[in-house]
Amino acid sequence: MTRSIMLVLFAALVACGASATPAAVARPPEKPPDKPAEPSTPDPAAAKAALLARERAAWDTAKPVFQNSCATCHSKAGKKAAKKKLDHFDLDTYPPGGHHTGTIGYTVREVLGLSGEKATMPYDAPGSVQGEDLAKIVAWTDAWEAADKGGAHPPAAPETDDD
Ligand code: HEC
Repeated sequence: MTRSIMLVLFAALVACGASATPAAVARPPEKPPDKPAEPSTPDPAAAKAALLARERAAWDTAKPVFQNSCATCHSKAGKKAAKKKLDHFDLDTYPPGGHHTGTIGYTVREVLGLSGEKATMPYDAPGSVQGEDLAKIVAWTDAWEAADKGGAHPPAAPETDDD
């Protein structure tokens, strides 16, 4: 009887995720440590697809920030849109259009002051993207970089200017 009560208690503790296990009850065996980084999937196409899916999900989270802070100049419908701005960065497509597409994750980090240089965007209020908004963009640039390093992006034409 006492034993079954203990079992129920233990089950309840485990079920609600309590961290303190009563001394009287044996601890469940520790989870074995995660194996060191081995590719979790041996199928390269599936691995690339997973990287792209993560990048796209991060973009969807960051997109409202781009819409609020950038689209007025960097989307065709934006009030201050102009060819020159769209040629750099065009939010109407994914990946974003313009001649920076092949490096866009790094380029966006640069213009937002995440690479050690001063922020240059938004053009009319550089450095104004902050806090949670900036964190969402950072998360996207990280997912973009992971996909890029994982070979998930199509080979890009080299950049045609140096600004
Ligand atoms: C008020 C208009 C305006 C807004 C808002 C704006 N931009 Fe720009 N953006 C420009 C202009 C103008 C250029 C071209 C600057 C130049 O040639 O020096 C530019 C260029 C860029 C470039 C290319 C930079 C380079 O080094 O070649 C990127 C990337 C960019 N913008 C990203 C953004 C992002 C991200 C945002 C939002 C956080 C944003 N912009 C908001 C006007 C704007």
